[in-house]
Amino acid sequence: MNQKKIAGEKAAEYIKDGMVVGLGTGSTAKFMVDKVGEMVKNGLKIQAIPTSKATEQQARELGIPLLSIDEVDHIDLDIDGVDEIDSEFNATKGGGGALFREKVVADLAKEVIWIMDESKLVDSIGAFPLPLEVLPYGYKIVFKKMEDFGYNPKMRMNGDDLFVTDNGNYIIDLCIGAPADIEDIRQKVNSVVGVLETGQFLKMCKRIIVGTDEGVKIIEAE
Ligand code: 5RP
Repeated sequence: MNQKKIAGEKAAEYIKDGMVVGLGTGSTAKFMVDKVGEMVKNGLKIQAIPTSKATEQQARELGIPLLSIDEVDHIDLDIDGVDEIDSEFNATKGGGGALFREKVVADLAKEVIWIMDESKLVDSIGAFPLPLEVLPYGYKIVFKKMEDFGYNPKMRMNGDDLFVTDNGNYIIDLCIGAPADIEDIRQKVNSVVGVLETGQFLKMCKRIIVGTDEGVKIIEAE
């Protein structure tokens, strides 16, 4: 059973006519977007906000009506993947480098659903490197500050070049390790000028959908 596929397709069932929907990024979200494309072909009437250029292209090819973030004042439902998540729904995202747009969309959404395979469920987050989107201007200063915090930073690369986000910025991955002191990291990292956004998505959703070999599990926040 493809765990990512069944999670993505199940989440699409929460989309209803008339909704403005945030479309996430990554391999799990891709299955969800495919399903949404099928639903639109079968008559579903929605408008969607993609969280990356890759998702925008996929959605366009599938004929899903799109809006830009500047055209909306609300989003009804956002569905996106995660890199790891604990039982209190503290998540790390940004493995695909789309964290900035993903956070803007999730923050605006009335409801957020994270979709995933079982491997994403962890006791404590921190093993997956925490991405920071940073301005190119002065990024080496930000990098040095992360070294000083002891966060073992690595510049994200694209072959021999620095990885560049859809927004024209760089990514610094912090290899901190689990269990991470989430609140301490949040405060330190957000205090550094030049950090535009982090991959900490803390308690932003009330429902997660996990694909397992026995089928999908829907877990709701207590
Ligand atoms: C992209 C993300 C993705 O949602 C996250 O990396 C999960 O990806 P996948 O579904 O491919 O495992 O945050 O920035």
